[in-house]
Amino acid sequence: MRYSLGAFIGFVIFTILIDYLLHRLIHSDETKRIKHFSFPNGTFWYYSVPTFFIFSFSGLYAMVQTASSSNVYVYFQWFLVSYLAIYLPKLFYYLGYKITHRAIRVKNKFASDGKLKKMNEGRYPSISRKKFLSQVGIVMASVPFISLLFGVLKGRFSFSKQYTKLSFPNLPDAFDGIKIVQISDLHLGSLNSNYEEMEEAVRLINDEHPDLICFTGDLVNNFYEETIGWEKVFTKLNARIGKFSILGNHDYGDYSKWPSAHAKQHNLNNIKSAHNRLGFNLLNNKSQTLEINGDKIAISGVENWGHHPFPQYGDLKKASRGIEEIPFKLLLSHDPDHWDAEVKEKTDYDLTLSGHTHGMQFGITFKNFQWSPAKYKFRRWAGLYNEGKNFLYVNRGLGYLGMPVRVGMPPEITIIELTKGPMGNDMM
Ligand SMILES: [Fe+2]
Repeated sequence: MRYSLGAFIGFVIFTILIDYLLHRLIHSDETKRIKHFSFPNGTFWYYSVPTFFIFSFSGLYAMVQTASSSNVYVYFQWFLVSYLAIYLPKLFYYLGYKITHRAIRVKNKFASDGKLKKMNEGRYPSISRKKFLSQVGIVMASVPFISLLFGVLKGRFSFSKQYTKLSFPNLPDAFDGIKIVQISDLHLGSLNSNYEEMEEAVRLINDEHPDLICFTGDLVNNFYEETIGWEKVFTKLNARIGKFSILGNHDYGDYSKWPSAHAKQHNLNNIKSAHNRLGFNLLNNKSQTLEINGDKIAISGVENWGHHPFPQYGDLKKASRGIEEIPFKLLLSHDPDHWDAEVKEKTDYDLTLSGHTHGMQFGITFKNFQWSPAKYKFRRWAGLYNEGKNFLYVNRGLGYLGMPVRVGMPPEITIIELTKGPMGNDMM
């Protein structure tokens, strides 16, 4: 609750500050050409925008806290996008204007001393400094606006396949070459009946002819009703050996106030059944042994286990019962923090598959370099990690949460091929 209040106060301060700074910038216009911002009418309309957003935010946020249906989440996410589509460009306009202004001042300081001034004389058509700075601001503002537009219209459904090869000396012969497809974080309520787009993801997965499909949690945002209608899409997933899933932090209904403990439990039970209805074998703190020609591997799944404020329902000891003698073990655990806390160097799980981070649905990728603000929030935020004999793969998520946007962090289908051999990896 304290965190929510902090976020709201931050939102209000940011909104008012940006509008105030821009207002001041416009009024600093020495030519006074922008008359419609003159007090009181222009000012009134100008500040009606932040007032609208602040009131809407507080209202919608209160509704999300007590919502009994997933529709409120959908309204909330579109509200956030429209807010950012207005306020990020404002922020970038202000920064572009101010930074360029400062740079011109520094340049002029040097230019007035000597050669530079001469060099610049007559080279460009002369426009007022104010006009030039406004144009820089508009170009800067267009960057977040176009990025958001792309992220909504295309980015959120531009599925990306990520291939990894891993080899293990202890992988039984019959499983040499096994292909695992991992998906994570569907957040069906956010997808808001975009069945056709997800059919495309299912087709891309089936094209890989996977042996195993692993879904690493967050089927919904909060409510089991979000799963209704999706069986016609996900039951089409094909895997030779099996399709397994686990619960994520969003699958417990913890993000809403319930009229009773019974109502919350009923919601959770229905979400568990939905995993099965959609074709997944839900591993809720349990394991399953997979056998081919007498060779065996184990796949275990734990309930969500995360650091505060995320719940720690996962019970790795319980999940690992009865598989002590199996030579190769795979673990599904939604939150990658669990791998650091309880798995690596403490267990013999060869490979753990996680999700949860979404790569914060935003990043910049250039060749082998990838940056995302997620790296400052999550210790393991995307891709492959290895310590000692334990490997972890963090999937960037297939759905989205908070905003229907993905920019530079496409929805991911992970394909991992396991081979028998000296321990190592080969990102393809
Ligand atoms: Fe998630």
